[in-house]
Order: sequence, then C-alpha cells, then structure tokens
Amino acid sequence: MELIRVEDFCKRFGDKVVHQGVTFAVKRGECLGLLGGSGSGKSVILRSLIGLEKPDTGEIHIDETEISKFTERQLISIRKKVAYAFQGGALFDSMTVFDNLAYPLLEHTKLSKNEIENKVLKTLADFDLKGSENLLPSNLSGGMQKRVGLARAIIMEPEIILYDEPTAGLDPFNTRVIQETIIRLKKTGVTSILVTHDMPSAIAVCDRILLLVRGKIVAEATARDVMDGKVKEIANFMEGNPRRSDGSR
Ligand SMILES: Nc1ncnc2c1ncn2[C@@H]1O[C@H](COP(=O)(O)OP(=O)(O)OP(=O)(O)O)[C@@H](O)[C@H]1O
Ligand SMILES: [Mg+2]
Repeated sequence: MELIRVEDFCKRFGDKVVHQGVTFAVKRGECLGLLGGSGSGKSVILRSLIGLEKPDTGEIHIDETEISKFTERQLISIRKKVAYAFQGGALFDSMTVFDNLAYPLLEHTKLSKNEIENKVLKTLADFDLKGSENLLPSNLSGGMQKRVGLARAIIMEPEIILYDEPTAGLDPFNTRVIQETIIRLKKTGVTSILVTHDMPSAIAVCDRILLLVRGKIVAEATARDVMDGKVKEIANFMEGNPRRSDGSR
C-alpha cells in the first residue's frame, strides 16, 4: 500500500517555475531515493510533505489523506507521523544536545522526566553520541551535528522519515553511521525518502531511485539497475551531464 503519494505537483516562486507536474508514490516500508541537481526542488518537495510549503496545484496524500490544503492545526497530526531531518540540522543553538532531543518529547508526549531521560540517552548511544549530552551544538563537529539532527528527528518514532542530504559533507565514518541508521530504521518498518547527491549511499539504502530534472521526474529505477548502470538518465546525471540527464542530447 502507498503511504505517500504526490500527484501532479506544480510549484513556482515568482517567475521561477520549479515543479511542472511531479508524480510519485512511496510504498509502506520502502526507502525512495530522490536525486536532482541543486535547485531542482527536492527540498521543496520534502517540506511540502509536512506542510511547510504548499503546491500551487496538485495533491499530496499521506496515508490516504490529502494534506495540501491542511491548516496549521490539521498539520499537527501529520507532523507527528512524518519527521523531516533538515538539510542543515536545524538544532536549537542555545540548547544542549540533551535538551534538543528532550524537547519534542516534552512538548508532544506524556512521558515522565525519567522516561524522557532514558529515551534520550539510549537514542544518543544509538548514534554513537554518548557523552555529548551536555554540549551545545556549536561545540560539535559537523558530522556529530548531523547525527544529533537525525537522532532528534527519530526520537518521536515517526512512521515516515524525510532525509534531506543526511550525508552531505561527512567523512566515511559518519556517512556509514547515517547509512546504517537509515537501514536499521527501514527494518523496523519506517517509510522514507532520501534526498541526496551521494550515490553510493542512495544505492546502499534505497529500494527505488527517482531523478528530478527541470521540474519533472525523468527516470525511475531500482537501486540495483542504477548500480548496474542500466539507467542512462541517472548515469548521465552521475557523470555530471545534467543537461542530458532528461534523456535529450
Ligand atoms: N521560499 C522560497 N522562496 C523563493 N524561492 C524558493 C523558496 N524555496 C525554494 N525556492 C527556490 O526553489 C528552487 C528549488 O529549491 P530547493 O531548495 O527545493 O532545491 P534543492 O533541489 O533542494 O537544491 P539543493 O540540492 O541545492 O539543496 C530554488 O531555485 C530555490 O531558490
Ligand atoms: Mg535541498
């Protein structure tokens, strides 16, 4: 069954047309990769899935519910179900790592102080962040900040996780921790979309991969076919020929 369905999504900013009818679906438990050049509109699609942007026309279905015209109030239930791991991490700079993770639990759950503490410490340990709980985000390396951002996104146990370039700029160790996390969460039944420029990660964790060029999905393939170089649009994109990655010459 499809948990996410985006239908004929169109969006422009002023004169700039970004999406010209983007249609795709993600099955329950699937991890979908979304590739596309910088500025092609990947983050806008992810933001729209939690109602931070609205399409000009088109539909967004989460678990069979059309959400594109939802009010902020109606979106609260969606945001409990769908976590967005922001491209920049989006941590609260003035809060410790512990408080960054505890905050959503304090705000949105009825867990006791003790339960929250246990959950935060366990989640930090899962992300190899033991001992960092009293640090501020500015005292962490980029890789650690990304891991904290991801830890905060998953601590509410969302059904859907949207990863926006979770491995960008990371060293091999941090990249592997993130890849393993995505795979581990997938095994627990989480449905996800991975936006990335990191092809090895996309191939390692995604079931299917889409390519967005000039406002449209121009290719869709299994990770296996992408790895085998069978998809010429994606092969061109990977070689840095975005002009030809829509299949034209
Ligand atoms: N709130 C906004 N106001 C005006 N323009 C915007 C807004 N949000 C996005 N855009 C524009 O929409 C286009 C798509 O942006 P988006 O952030 O989705 O790109 P992206 O594919 O995520 O790129 P990158 O790989 O660099 O992160 C860009 O040209 C961007 O400038
Ligand atoms: Mg982006």
